Amino acid sequence: MKPIVLSGIQPSGHMTIGNYIGAMRNWVAMQDDHDTLFSLVDLHAITVKQDPKDLRERCYDFVALYLACGIDPNKSTVFIQSHVHQHAELGWILNCYAYMGELNRMTQFKDKSGKQGKNINVGLFDYPVLMAADILLYGTDKVPVGQDQKQHLELARDIASRFNNQYNDEVFTVPEPFIPKQGARIMSLQEPTAKMSKSDSIEKNYVSLLDDPKKIIKKLKSAVTDSETEIRFDRENKPGVSNLLELMGGVTDRTVEEVLKDYEGVEGYGKLKIDTGEAIVALVEPIQQRFHEIRSDQSAMRDILKQGAEKASERAQDQLDKVKDTIGLIV
Ligand code: TRP
Repeated sequence: MKPIVLSGIQPSGHMTIGNYIGAMRNWVAMQDDHDTLFSLVDLHAITVKQDPKDLRERCYDFVALYLACGIDPNKSTVFIQSHVHQHAELGWILNCYAYMGELNRMTQFKDKSGKQGKNINVGLFDYPVLMAADILLYGTDKVPVGQDQKQHLELARDIASRFNNQYNDEVFTVPEPFIPKQGARIMSLQEPTAKMSKSDSIEKNYVSLLDDPKKIIKKLKSAVTDSETEIRFDRENKPGVSNLLELMGGVTDRTVEEVLKDYEGVEGYGKLKIDTGEAIVALVEPIQQRFHEIRSDQSAMRDILKQGAEKASERAQDQLDKVKDTIGLIV
């Protein structure tokens, strides 16, 4: 049996080249030798205020991008989180096994509640418990996540072990994080010490997978570097240049060392910026073409999503019944 892998992205903002390099590319590569489930986590997205019409469009856009990037519904279970009601149900049950204290320590909650001012809703606080439910519903072995989600995954592991211990039974598989070796962290183009965020309100900070080529080149040309001229990898002292090297490596599937070989003796950053922009364009152009084809047939997309939800739901229900039975709910 293949190891079970589950991951998800929120339909918020714009899917970026950082999401591609840090997540999507690895998801695609895992499809053959893992039992892969990829969800669009729309219930997580509503912890932030959303315009209903925009949210609906964005959900279709993101699913079309999953498929355009190479997620194959014949190999992977692709579904929208809210289509599989067991997520919300297990989420509720797990609430009763998670502590206020541990949720209070989540750094993402602290960051977001700092930013969201008046809308510190309960869902925002509870977000990691729903994420634990996403993972634990499928007996997931490995969860590909970025560094920023490690703490949430740790919580899912704690909840799973706590539950198993309390009932003295292996009801949940305790999941392992799967953090890809390289290029997992692409930084903002203008502020290369912060992660490239798909929800950034400043457009110049990120490259969307759907940006037009001219715009991509322009964004890369104006990426922040430093006042030296030497191209070398040094995250601490040269975060901008290092990020360009990581980006170039990520989009051309090479290590930073390999990329550096092309720039021996090159002074200044102009060439590196243009080359990186062009490499991104070469990568995203075919993705954009497939995206437009897929996106133009919404009813075909709905069929794929329906099948994905049915497959996921069947598996999720088995696990949910096991949980309910364990805790004494009549099933
Ligand atoms: N919280 C994750 C993020 O923002 C998204 C997510 C929700 C997720 N449920 C998940 C990721 C389950 C992995 C597995 O990136």
